[in-house]
Amino acid sequence: MSLSLSGTLGAGVADQDALQRTFVALFENIAHHTPLQTRVWLSAANGEGDSAHPIEMRIEDDGPGVSSDNLPHLFERFFQADASRHSMGTGLGLAIARSLVEAHGGSISAGRSRHGGLEFVLSLPREAPAGAGAEAGEGSEGAVP
Ligand SMILES: Nc1ncnc2c1ncn2[C@@H]1O[C@H](COP(=O)(O)OP(=O)(O)OP(=O)(O)O)[C@@H](O)[C@H]1O
Ligand SMILES: [Mg+2]
Repeated sequence: MSLSLSGTLGAGVADQDALQRTFVALFENIAHHTPLQTRVWLSAANGEGDSAHPIEMRIEDDGPGVSSDNLPHLFERFFQADASRHSMGTGLGLAIARSLVEAHGGSISAGRSRHGGLEFVLSLPREAPAGAGAEAGEGSEGAVP
């Protein structure tokens, strides 16, 4: 795994738990849907994204990726690309990750990595919107749509 951080990201980027769950979902996917020897590049920079979302984090791998037909559907609930249909997963990991990131004023997208596999880009505001960070499903309203 290669890690590259440029500058400091700043405090209060987003709710720590939500960000952690998002990264766990992305790394679990690499563990479950790519071969063992797959390499991973993680980078984060403040000031790379647009003015509303200056913090950009990228996770890239050199695994098999998914077909161009499947790429636009990765964040849909219960969607699994062909090669994963017989795996243990439910197809909810990326849908939940997108809800968590959007609840914190950010966005997440998937594309083809320059290393041959998949690339996920998280764009985040410097500060999470008011109310973000309340634990989902525990009586808080609007934390996760
Ligand atoms: N890094 C990756 N390389 C190749 N395919 C991937 C990668 N990440 C996700 N995918 C594909 O995207 C699909 C959707 O991912 P998602 O995390 O939503 O569901 P899942 O991993 O199958 O199940 P769950 O996360 O609910 O256990 C996966 O089934 C897999 O086909
Ligand atoms: Mg998953």
